[in-house]
This record gives sequence, structure tokens and C-alpha cells, in this order.
Amino acid sequence: RLFYDTDCSLEPLAGKTITFIGYGNQGRAQALNLRDTFSSAQNVTQPKIVITNQEDSYAKTAEQDGFGYTTNWAAAAAEADVLFLLVPDQHQPDLFNSHIAPNLKETACIVVASGYNVFYKYLNFTSSNDIVMVAPRMVGASVRSLYESKQGYPCFVSVEQDGTGQAWPLALALCMAVGATKGGAIESSCREEALTDLFAEQAIWPTVIAVFREGYKLLKELGCSDEALVHEMWLSKEPAEIFESAADQGFIKQLVGHSSVSQYGQLKGSQEMDVSWLKKHFEHVAKERVLGGAFAEEFTAAEQKPGGIDGALKKLYQEAEKSKLAVGEKRVRERLGLKT
Ligand code: NAI
Repeated sequence: RLFYDTDCSLEPLAGKTITFIGYGNQGRAQALNLRDTFSSAQNVTQPKIVITNQEDSYAKTAEQDGFGYTTNWAAAAAEADVLFLLVPDQHQPDLFNSHIAPNLKETACIVVASGYNVFYKYLNFTSSNDIVMVAPRMVGASVRSLYESKQGYPCFVSVEQDGTGQAWPLALALCMAVGATKGGAIESSCREEALTDLFAEQAIWPTVIAVFREGYKLLKELGCSDEALVHEMWLSKEPAEIFESAADQGFIKQLVGHSSVSQYGQLKGSQEMDVSWLKKHFEHVAKERVLGGAFAEEFTAAEQKPGGIDGALKKLYQEAEKSKLAVGEKRVRERLGLKT
């Protein structure tokens, strides 16, 4: 089901205290959109917007944007009617469970922009709270720029817990306020958001990375130069154009823009490919890694090891940089004077 502006009212937010925990990528875009929506709304009591942020560059941005900020999580939580939890997913449980949850009003609505911590039950809220997901499918800069140009953007909405019995009208008011119902907010759930998001990150894109890496290695062994491979495979931006056309014209329909040799090769090749290994691998990722929680456990454990996630990422990057693809590309980019 899709929800448009005409399905919503801002009234459930009238005069409420709306607190943003985090003024980063999503926090800034959603707070600015919400403020602009209310400043142009007629006959609605303005809400009070509070930005809560640790002392860093994001806090300075909140100040520059005219919001000001507080670093007192507990006091901000205590006065919030609606609380957007918009710090990185890995920091949410500690922050929420230690500083926010103990101080929240019983009827406060907690808003998440990703299903992760709610689906894996990492947040300790009480049964009287409303738990709502408003999850844009875009980076914050686009959430803001599309709003400014009066366009919608894809966004998932769900009510995960209706503690007050009024969570749906509130969720829709929030979607409307941040500009998510202009193009139709999509009814979803934290389970669906986590599954689609994590599946894309852990199955689709790793497969694409592996396909490019192994394809590169093979063609290098068959005598192709780094220059030819890097340009043919991505530097020309052909893959970017293909995905842009897929969004504009349709995933399969965009193929008609390619030569007949290419269309035949792509359609026949994808039909004839033995995908049984892929199906098995995808099932493992979806059922065990994502829905079964193995990834979340591994990620939490990695965070608790010395060096944390940054240390784990550093190691993964070091490994990836050793591939023929990465080594070859570095050389080509240096020769062309491109950013490395
Ligand atoms: P971000 O990385 O931009 O977060 C920065 C904010 O978090 C800043 O306010 C910073 O002060 C604060 N912060 C960072 N570490 C902290 C800590 N240890 N304790 C307290 N505050 C800390 O976050 P982003 O990307 O806006 O993500 C927020 C939520 O939005 C997440 O749930 C994410 O999954 C979701 N989301 C993100 C999208 C994106 O494109 N980045 C798209 C859709 C949803």
C-alpha cells in the first residue's frame, strides 16, 4: 500500500516536541524538511524541534542551520513526544538503552530510519511506546534536494508497535512532514527493510564485486591490458549508464539500447547460466545470515574486538586492495592522473 499527502494530516504533530537524536546524513535532511513543512503549513500549532548531538562537526552544522543543539541526551529524551533515532545503526543500542530509554515518556514515539535494531530487538523500549519506521531509500542529500524541488522520494513506512493506539496517524504525519508522502510512502516493516537492505549489501553487491574481480583476473590472464579492462568494465561509466537506464526504462527493456550482438549475448547468457550455486548462496545469506541473525551477531562481535569496526574494515580493505583488479586500476589511474 502507498500513502500520499492526501492520506495524511500534520495535526497529530501539532504542538508536539520532536527530538532528533543525530544531525548527520538523515538527521539534517529530515529535520530541515520537517521544519519547512510546518513553516508553510496553515492552521497547525508549530511543533518544537530539538536537535541532540555530541560535540562534533554535525553539531556545528545544526547551529549554522539555525536549530542549535543540546548534548544532554537524557533531558532531551524526557521532553520528547517524538524521537527520531538517527545516529549510525551500530551506535544506537548503547546510546538508546543507556541514555534515552530510561528517560522517555511512556507514550513517546520512537522513529527509526532503518529496520536493523528493531528487527534484531537491540533497543529496549517499553510496550507503551509507539515504534515507527520512516526509512527513506535515499541518502540524506537527496532527501533534502528532492524535497526542495517539490518532488517525492521512495520511503518505507511501518508501525512496529502501536503503544498508544494512535501510531498510524502519527507515522503518516511524520512521513508527510519529512516529504516522504509526495511520491507515495511504501507500507513495509522492519523485517522487510532489514531483509531487502542487508540482502542487497550481503548478497547482490558482493556478487557484483566478485564478478568484476574474477572477470578481471581471467581476462588479464588471457592477455588483456589493465587499460583495456578498466575502461571496458567501469571507467567508461557504462555500468552506471545501464543502471540509470534500468531505472528510467525498465530492468530488461533498457537492453534495447544495446547492439543486437550485445542483446543476444546478455539474454542468452543469463538464460543459460547455471545459477544453482547462486540460488544456494543467496538462500544462505537471506535465511541464515540475515533473517537468522548470524550477520548481526558477527557484526556486534567485530565491534567489540580491539580496533572495532574501523579495524575490521581496515583489514578487509587491505585484502581487497591486493586483487588484480585493484592493483591494475591503481596503476591505470596513476598514469591517467585520476584520483586514487
Ligand atoms: P550518519 O553517519 O550521518 O550519522 C552521523 C550522526 O551520528 C551525527 O549526528 C553524529 O554526531 C552522530 N554520531 C556518530 N557516532 C555517534 C556516537 N557514537 N554517539 C552518538 N552520536 C553519534 O548516520 P546516517 O547515515 O544519517 O544514519 C542514521 C540512520 O539512518 C541509520 O539508522 C541509517 O541506517 C539510516 N539511513 C541512512 C541512510 C543513508 O543514506 N546514510 C539512508 C536511509 C536510512
